[in-house]
Amino acid sequence: MSGYTPIRILPGEGIEILDQTLLPHEERYLRLGTVAEVAEAIRSLRVRGAPLLGVTGASGMAIAGEERGAGAAALAEAATELKATRPTAVDLGATIDEALAAAEGAARQDQRRAVLWEFAERALTRQRERDTALARHGRELPGLEGAVLTHCNTGGLATGGAGTALAVIAEAWRAGRIERCFATETRPLLQGARLTMWELGALGIPGTLLPDTAAASLIASGAVSAVITGADRIVANGDGANKVGTYGLAAVAARHGVPFYLVAPISTFDANTPSGEAIPIEFRGDGEVGGFGDERWSPDGGGAYNPAFDVTPAELIAGIVTETGVLRPPYGPAIAALTARNG
Ligand code: MRU
Repeated sequence: MSGYTPIRILPGEGIEILDQTLLPHEERYLRLGTVAEVAEAIRSLRVRGAPLLGVTGASGMAIAGEERGAGAAALAEAATELKATRPTAVDLGATIDEALAAAEGAARQDQRRAVLWEFAERALTRQRERDTALARHGRELPGLEGAVLTHCNTGGLATGGAGTALAVIAEAWRAGRIERCFATETRPLLQGARLTMWELGALGIPGTLLPDTAAASLIASGAVSAVITGADRIVANGDGANKVGTYGLAAVAARHGVPFYLVAPISTFDANTPSGEAIPIEFRGDGEVGGFGDERWSPDGGGAYNPAFDVTPAELIAGIVTETGVLRPPYGPAIAALTARNG
């Protein structure tokens, strides 16, 4: 990380988030002090990335304790509101449930409020630790040589720490294994163009931006030695949901013998869902397609197909990097053992 943090937790008061919709042109922090404000920030991707959604959800629960009181009914209602904002990332709902369970352990409301703030701070600290461990395990992956391709944004902006896939890329770059990172624009919200290119610049890693539509020919050309992304939910058989477009990258990488890797903390695994068809996919509004922000370049009225995520089948994934090591196929037994060990 270099100077910026996507979230600041202010116990007893609220949180400040770096408004990611304004990056890279403006670095503006927004103070959030109500559950509705936190929900709006999550829904509109002012704050985003699976692990950071978990930290933000936990902070939202602490804010609920201040705003609405820390009674069981008020907290349960806030949890429902916050979880409904974005359904795909398992970290959001799971971390909110952890916050609720922590609060239930305290008898008095003032104690519960303190417990919720402590939990939010701990969620951020532990994510930073997980990121550091992930990056260490990932940097020796076969294929991280020369140039790699990534999709969406998986750096510190997405986690509050060093990131997931981008942290692995940064470690491999520091070790002299890779020289360049190609980043897709990531239509329609441009997380790659706006956020990953900004983070690569901050890290000093040479980055090359490409339209999403150029990724297949880039991979076919032999210019990248690996494709590496984060994940929002990895289920029991190893199928993994990530930013829409990931499946296509993995399929093309397989076609050309290029390894495709996912990097995710264990909190992103959902061993209760058997396979990818059961992953809830977030669909977003028509307005995000055919334009950007206030600018429209497509005639209105036609509607749009706008899933935020897609699912990459396990058979296309060469390895999954976690904070305790790299999983290899067959993923079913590996994920069962991992999640049993880590409760
Ligand atoms: O819609 P976003 O920007 O929240 O999507 C983010 C991603 O798809 C990331 O790859 C994923 O959350 C893993 S982040 C470390």
